[in-house]
Amino acid sequence: MNMNFPKNFLWGGAISCSQAEGGFNEDGKGIDTQDLRYFNFHWNKDERKQFKNRRMYKAKFEKALIDTNDKMYPFRRGIDFYHHWKEDIDLLAELHLKVFRTSIDWSRIYPNGDDKLANQAGINYYHNMFTYCHKKGIKVFVTILHYNIPVNLVLKYGGWSNRKLIGFYVTYAKTLFKELGDVVDYWLPFNEINAGRFNPYNGVCVVEDDQNRDNKIFQSLHHQFLANALAVKYAHEIIPNSKVGAMIARFSSYPATCKPEDVLQSIQDEQYSNWFYLDVMSRGSYPEYIKRYFREKKINIKMEASDTDILKENTVDFISFSYYFSQVSTTDNNWKKTDGNLIVANKNPYLKTSEWGWQMDPIGLRITLNQVFDRYQKPIFIAENGLGAEDHQEKDGSIHDPYRIDYIRQHIKAIKESLIDGVPVFGYTLWGIIDLISCGSMEMKKRYGVIYVDQDDSGNGTLKRYKKDSYYWYKKVICSDGEDL
Ligand code: BG6
Repeated sequence: MNMNFPKNFLWGGAISCSQAEGGFNEDGKGIDTQDLRYFNFHWNKDERKQFKNRRMYKAKFEKALIDTNDKMYPFRRGIDFYHHWKEDIDLLAELHLKVFRTSIDWSRIYPNGDDKLANQAGINYYHNMFTYCHKKGIKVFVTILHYNIPVNLVLKYGGWSNRKLIGFYVTYAKTLFKELGDVVDYWLPFNEINAGRFNPYNGVCVVEDDQNRDNKIFQSLHHQFLANALAVKYAHEIIPNSKVGAMIARFSSYPATCKPEDVLQSIQDEQYSNWFYLDVMSRGSYPEYIKRYFREKKINIKMEASDTDILKENTVDFISFSYYFSQVSTTDNNWKKTDGNLIVANKNPYLKTSEWGWQMDPIGLRITLNQVFDRYQKPIFIAENGLGAEDHQEKDGSIHDPYRIDYIRQHIKAIKESLIDGVPVFGYTLWGIIDLISCGSMEMKKRYGVIYVDQDDSGNGTLKRYKKDSYYWYKKVICSDGEDL
């Protein structure tokens, strides 16, 4: 049995526009929802409170729109990738990276989301960058929407709960297929579509009355599913042989005990948090278990006659997910808790947690890869994985991050085992390959990169890039096709 990764395995790195670019008001860009997130040094407590208080979002956006204190809005500056992209891509090329995943900022292309004409400067920016990636031998993996939407779409239309958003999104996506189709290799219509329901900043949870909240969330998701299917349709029509994937945040779950109630809870958590989304995007229809859930919760989604066919006829070519941690499912409400990616998770006593409370579980990645392939029988791309940790820079500029190397090593070993299990994983993009602003906490000190960026939580620093120990290690892994771990 050949233990190596295939020669054409796509070793990669990922970032997102809002967490990296900065340049929030340059070259015709409009204001998007992430530009309006206010940094709070006590995020752990207060951010969670904010998430509960979704009703406030419209007012919050309106207030932030007129606040010019940019310092307190970390996504307005990111890591200034907007002006450093060439230098950063050079560093990635030196790493022998095979694929680079980033997202397009909708508000750079259509500043208000509903504009008649696209902003040529925005198109040029991405076209130049992706052309340069290709010149350096790096394939391009584009996320069309990584949470941030033009804020006008929230204020004027109420966000994704309005069916009109599908049309705006399709116009935007078609523009990308026509203008960037020659320089993009893989497309992802939505980042972590299942995590959207937790995140008011992607225009889903902008709900003004709590009674209707669940209904609005699932109505918004229905519109996103249709937008996703239509993106698949038009990508295939406009760019022959294009490859379009579905993506979820993989909230893997084990039963907390072998008590049948816990096992059933685990199955239901998997359905509700993960499979429902992939079932719609990959199998092309709403599964019976979610219809039952809707009936029991009195959720009524408005659908048009053609919706079923749109979903059925435009399923994705591959499956992808982010994977950072696992959790346990139980009916015991008093079970110990810890933090997870965008959620509070039940604690697994067998796993260690990261500094941010995320339960590290490399074997869980192998379990997940097998589960996802068993269910969908499609090629799989791991779109995000990595460790958010605080780094310390030595006087000579070096950064020793053995904890990060160890985390990535264990996860790559799990991928290797999954390949031997027969799971067709064809790529892996390490999250935050260059340090960037954390999406959940908005901190800079929660670093994922193999490239260090000199900037602190308040935005002080030279923005100079440094190679961490993990940079040299990852390069060795890539150059040995995953052999030298
Ligand atoms: C994923 C997101 O949920 O997790 C990324 O797609 C995010 O945008 C990543 O950065 C890690 O989360 P965080 O909160 O540590 O940045």
